[in-house]
Amino acid sequence: MQLLALHGPNLNLLGTREPGVYGSQTLDQVNAELESRAQALGAAISCFQSNHEGALVDRIHEGRGSVDGILINAGAYTHSSIALRDALLGVAIPFVELHLSNTHAREPFRHHSTLADKALGVICGFGPLSYTLALEGLVAHLRAQP
Ligand code: DQA
Repeated sequence: MQLLALHGPNLNLLGTREPGVYGSQTLDQVNAELESRAQALGAAISCFQSNHEGALVDRIHEGRGSVDGILINAGAYTHSSIALRDALLGVAIPFVELHLSNTHAREPFRHHSTLADKALGVICGFGPLSYTLALEGLVAHLRAQP
């Protein structure tokens, strides 16, 4: 099982970015944890971060035919990007949306997601644990497929 973790804009700053909201783990630490959890679940995962919407779209397209499932924290693009929604629908790869913070307990503009209604599920509010919870859900879903 080949998985892809996508991190959107500003998530490269994790560890120093608003630690009261996003915690103190760096993106490298989040990715290392994802890789070891995925391996323990018998899956492989590639991790990709970009601050550019088009680069994220390109990476989603590259996954067609080789990636079984996607974890996506699209950062602020979550709230605005029709391009990411169309890319995910275009490749028809099942995905889980996740956020470190509970976006529903924050500013109203963070309450809407362009992706959520097409996701297998959405996890938010658990800090870095959101990534591992999303991974477990995605793997369980894919394993349950005939
Ligand atoms: C975020 C929430 C978004 O609203 C924000 O723009 C981010 C991070 C999160 O993980 O909590 O960049 O996706």
